[in-house]
Amino acid sequence: MAVTIRKRAALTRRRFLTIASASSAMTAFSGIARPYLSRAADRPLITHGVQSGDASIDSGVVWARADRPARMLVEVATTDSFKDVRRAVFVDALPESDFTAKALIEDLPAGQDIFYRIAFQDLSSAVFGESVVGHFRTAPDDRRSISFVWSGDTCGQGWGIDPARGGMRTYATMRANRPDFFIHCGDNIYADCPVPDAIKLRNGDTWRNVVTEDKCKNAETLGEYRGNYKYNLLDENLRAFNAEVPTVAQWDNHEVIEDWWPGEPLRQRGYVETNKLMLAARGRRAFHEFLPTRASLAEPGRIYRKISYGPLLDVFLLDMRSYRGANVRPADADCPEARLLGPDQVSWLKRGLKRSRATWKVIAADAPLGLVLGDWEVERNGKPRGRALDIADVLSFIKHAGIRNTAWITAEIHYTAAHYYDPNRAVFQDFEPFWEFVSGPIHAGTWTPIALDRVFGPQVIYQKASTRELGDNLAPCFGLQFFGHVAIDGATAAMTVTLKDVADKALWSTTLAPQVT
Ligand SMILES: [Fe+2]
Repeated sequence: MAVTIRKRAALTRRRFLTIASASSAMTAFSGIARPYLSRAADRPLITHGVQSGDASIDSGVVWARADRPARMLVEVATTDSFKDVRRAVFVDALPESDFTAKALIEDLPAGQDIFYRIAFQDLSSAVFGESVVGHFRTAPDDRRSISFVWSGDTCGQGWGIDPARGGMRTYATMRANRPDFFIHCGDNIYADCPVPDAIKLRNGDTWRNVVTEDKCKNAETLGEYRGNYKYNLLDENLRAFNAEVPTVAQWDNHEVIEDWWPGEPLRQRGYVETNKLMLAARGRRAFHEFLPTRASLAEPGRIYRKISYGPLLDVFLLDMRSYRGANVRPADADCPEARLLGPDQVSWLKRGLKRSRATWKVIAADAPLGLVLGDWEVERNGKPRGRALDIADVLSFIKHAGIRNTAWITAEIHYTAAHYYDPNRAVFQDFEPFWEFVSGPIHAGTWTPIALDRVFGPQVIYQKASTRELGDNLAPCFGLQFFGHVAIDGATAAMTVTLKDVADKALWSTTLAPQVT
């Protein structure tokens, strides 16, 4: 599939003029788009490729960034020839958003390949730049087979882009799987992991990073947070992936700073800010500026949301960072501030699960349920406490509301695993058994296995991680980089989950038959 077709500016301009004349909203635009000769340096550039995301049955978000104040012009068609242009919209990319722009393309046909073509027009000179083509697929409205991949953890622990080692290769492998979409389960950036020039590997070789000014220190300013996303987008594998596969992004902790909670005083050395709320505000803004997320007017900046992907699948993306309480002492672990999701998000999740008509309800979490709670006291005398309270609440609700066919996916722990949570082995037992599938890192250090917490009775059915001999923070070049693949069969609605590595090797797989609801 041709996904980065560059067209001559003149051709692009004619196409946009055609669309503009058919739309009253574009009339002003057509009025300033007079033919003229322009030098290449005058033309606005698309600086970091194109992206799409949050695709549903009839819509999807498209994204690009300009190198100057410019108007982003988007054409949409169902063929890469663009003979059937269906929609054209424009969004202004201004300094306030670091020249990023995104638009929700609506009224699209279901289950359809969508090609979009983006070009920028300089707001001062009216000169047009060259266009770039991207692709996404809308969700089907019938029970046809669908697939997606998920992972997390991009550019962590100083493992940046080493061109000699092929850059962030997991993105190329995921792209070769041709999924309908991709869920990034968090740590889209590592704002608190600068990238050094070179790292000595334990085998004597040297890892050599591409370096940028913004990625040489911990992110603190808005510009530095933005710089982390720009760094990742220097990688050719990621840009090619973005142009072809729509992303659904949630965040974990490193989009702001390691293990932050709202209102936490900053104790890390070398930071100028005194409170992590300011870092979180900047991190959140950069997250939404540089990722193709749908905006929420109910709560601007909200990250938790539902993606309806047709009759077979609803995806619920959680935010386990923004609403958590302080890292309390065990004695305080029953106080509301110890919560993980917060009451509004818990209510939203319960409501959404209850109303869902989709066969499968996949819940994408920031962290494994049997591990994320490990830093806190999570149970005493057989009852969940602290961070476990919200999870226990949700799991009980799923059982008593008769909600079937849920599965949890996540990243966070920098190795891949399949966990089966069984109430018969748990401290807290008021829930139905369920699976949790873990993948990642996409491009970060690989960890050794982490001990499980027993509150919800997880069993390790499969795991592949770094070993004691290889150690923690194993470099990406040693092959232990992971993603997961999910295929839902249109005829049987069976869901097959396959854990894969950067070489596209299927490490472990299971097929879950849906229960009758
Ligand atoms: Fe991570």
